[in-house]
Amino acid sequence: MPALSPELRFPFNGEPHTVFLKNVISRANIEVGDYTYYNDLIDPTAFEDQNVRYHFDFIGDKLVIGKFCALAQGTTFIMSGANHAMTGFSTYPFHIFGETWREGFDERIIFDHIRGDTVVGNDVWFGTNSTILPGVEIGCGAIIGANAMASKNVPPYAVVVGNPGKVVRLRFEQHTIDRLLEIAWWDWPTEKITQNLDAIRGADLTALEKASVV
Ligand SMILES: CC(C)(COP(=O)(O)OP(=O)(O)OC[C@H]1O[C@@H](n2cnc3c(N)ncnc32)[C@H](O)[C@@H]1OP(=O)(O)O)[C@@H](O)C(=O)NCCC(=O)NCCS
Repeated sequence: MPALSPELRFPFNGEPHTVFLKNVISRANIEVGDYTYYNDLIDPTAFEDQNVRYHFDFIGDKLVIGKFCALAQGTTFIMSGANHAMTGFSTYPFHIFGETWREGFDERIIFDHIRGDTVVGNDVWFGTNSTILPGVEIGCGAIIGANAMASKNVPPYAVVVGNPGKVVRLRFEQHTIDRLLEIAWWDWPTEKITQNLDAIRGADLTALEKASVV
C-alpha cells in the first residue's frame, strides 16, 4: 500500500473539515510541515486568514509549524503586528487613520514591540480554541490544552493549560524526552514511520531505539 501523501488537501477520505495545513497556505511568511492538520467545522481552508491574526508582511515575523502537529478548531496564532505602542499616554493607533494623525508618528516604536517568529516543533497537539501569543516557541511533543493561552515558551513534551498558560506536567521523564528529541521519528521517511507505529503509538522506547538505528 502506498504511503499517505502529505500533499493531499483533504486527507481524511476527502472529508471537507480536515486539511493537511501546508496545502492551504499561500503566504510566504507561514511554513507548515508535512502531515500537520487543521480541523474546523466551518472552513479549515481559511486558516491563514482566520486563525493567524495581525500577521503583516511589513513586520516580517514568521509562523513556522513543524510536522505531524494536530490543530483543533479555533487554534489561533496572534502575531507581532497585534501589539499597539504602549509607551505613550494612549495606545490608540492614531497613525493608521489618516494623514494628519500619521504626521510625526515614529514607526520605530512599532518595531520596538516585535517579539519575533512564532515557532512550533513537531508532533504538537493544540486543543480547541488554544491561543498562542507572539514570538512563542513550542517544543516538540507538547500539548496545549483547550482554551489555553500560551504566552511563554513551552518546553518539549510539556502539557500547558490555562490562562496564562502554565506547564502542569511533562509527558515523559526527561531522559525519555531527550532520547525522543534525538531519535526525531518525525524526520523518518513515511514508510519507516508506518512500519514503526506500534513503537510510536505505544510509547515503546526500546523498540523506537532499535528502529532508529536500522
Ligand atoms: C490538556 C489536556 C490534554 C490534559 O489532559 P490530562 O492530562 O488527561 O489532564 P487531566 O484531565 O488529568 O487534568 C489535569 C489538571 O489540569 C486541569 N486541566 C486539564 N485540561 C485543562 C484545560 N484545558 N484548561 C484548564 N485546566 C485544565 C484539570 O482540571 C486538572 O486540574 P487539577 O490537577 O487541579 O485537578 C486536556 O484537558 C485538554 O485540554 N485537551 C484538549 C482537548 C481538545 O480540545 N480536543 C480538540 C479535538 S483534537
